[in-house]
Amino acid sequence: MSSVTDSLTVRDNRTGQEYEVPILDGAIKAADIGKIRSGEDEPGLAVYDPGFVNTASCRSSVTFIDGDKGILEYRGYPIEQLAEQSSFLEVAYLLVHGSLPSKDEYDQWVHNITYHTFVHENVKGFMEGFRYDAHPMGMLMASVGALSTFYPESRNISDADNRAIQIIRMIAKMPTLGAWSFRHAQGKPYVYPDNELSYTENFLSMLFKMSEPTYQADERIVKALDTLFILHADHEQNASANAVRAVGSTQVDPYSAVSAGIGALFGPLHGGANEAVLRMLKRIGNKSEIPAFIEGVKNGNERLMGFGHRVYKNYDPRAKIIKKACDDVFEVTGVNPLLEVAQELEKIALEDEYFVKRKLYPNVDFYSGLIYEALEFPPEMFTVLFAIGRTPGWLAQWLELTQDKEQKIARPKQIYTGSRGLTYTPTEQRWA
Ligand SMILES: CC(C)(COP(=O)(O)OP(=O)(O)OC[C@H]1O[C@@H](n2cnc3c(N)ncnc32)[C@H](O)[C@@H]1OP(=O)(O)O)[C@@H](O)C(=O)NCCC(=O)NCCS
Repeated sequence: MSSVTDSLTVRDNRTGQEYEVPILDGAIKAADIGKIRSGEDEPGLAVYDPGFVNTASCRSSVTFIDGDKGILEYRGYPIEQLAEQSSFLEVAYLLVHGSLPSKDEYDQWVHNITYHTFVHENVKGFMEGFRYDAHPMGMLMASVGALSTFYPESRNISDADNRAIQIIRMIAKMPTLGAWSFRHAQGKPYVYPDNELSYTENFLSMLFKMSEPTYQADERIVKALDTLFILHADHEQNASANAVRAVGSTQVDPYSAVSAGIGALFGPLHGGANEAVLRMLKRIGNKSEIPAFIEGVKNGNERLMGFGHRVYKNYDPRAKIIKKACDDVFEVTGVNPLLEVAQELEKIALEDEYFVKRKLYPNVDFYSGLIYEALEFPPEMFTVLFAIGRTPGWLAQWLELTQDKEQKIARPKQIYTGSRGLTYTPTEQRWA
């Protein structure tokens, strides 16, 4: 067999046969491994990887992460620059379209999104039908999925114009649905969008407006929330993006695919960690309790929530930016007394050998819960805020999927461990 430089030579010790497996972009194709068989009629070798910890499911040009160096880039632009200088809607355009907009493109994009913020009145009707204490994430997931029934043409995913309008609709309507889920639990009337306001101002208006003619949000709060949306806008093949892609691979409409992503985000291992951080900080209560708490963590009694990450083995770049947003928000709302506890906890942990050795640094969730609480969001709303920010990322991933010729319906293999060839005994005999 001829040898190429970027390849792997695999020797199957069952047969003694050698295989040359090409390496492309730092990966080998699982299908090439499938060519390795112990006999003519035997199945090809499979790759076992629960949780996809070392399996690339796609090629993507949306988001780049280098976890060792703490780098996060959307379409090549460092997150720090985008958070500081851009706006959420511009970042949404960048993620979806692949490049930054010209002035005309941006104005058109903002116009389109602003004028699709309203939802069909029947959406309001069925949202009102949820139980009085319905979790806002459940309401958001159901209502996004239900939008597919209002836009049946969204099933035509091979049409580029059709895809574009559904993307605009979804980014536009997400704050409306998220805010209404919030008002529902509070028993307050739903507030209609105010299209005179910016995207993030309008969201705050739908959340908090009462009888005043126009809701006026503090500029610093608007900027902080807009920044948080930017920081959450995409994170490559995380659990919810993977859910959107897996469901989208069946060629279903984007509303159904994104509602699957919302379902994945709802889980405590994905979107729920900031709530756990807040609970932890409240339990610690004050700085004097920190050493005892850290000892407990080191003894394996519990984890320091908001620390550590599957990908980042360095400071999560988003955590640094959130720390700065904290200062801006607390200038308006007054300092959350738990901030002191969080800062001291971070300082102690970063100097402690246990955390240093394991490369455990603060992640995005360490400070975000403090901000959300200062803004008077109940913990159930934290994941809804995450979902609104993540929507352009899900849609960029979905769009890429629909145009990727290499993609197929997502259908993993299994290693079967159950019984075979049993004989069924009719119930009259089994239950006699
Ligand atoms: C995020 C997380 C799930 C990543 O897990 P992972 O990549 O599978 O890492 P592991 O669980 O294998 O942890 C590696 C080591 O660090 C320790 N560790 C990881 N995170 C820790 C934490 N937050 N506190 C204390 N120890 C931690 C583990 O106990 C393990 O130690 P060991 O080698 O002595 O057994 C994990 O760091 C965690 O649970 N963090 C807290 C929850 C959180 O903040 N989640 C939000 C993520 S954005």
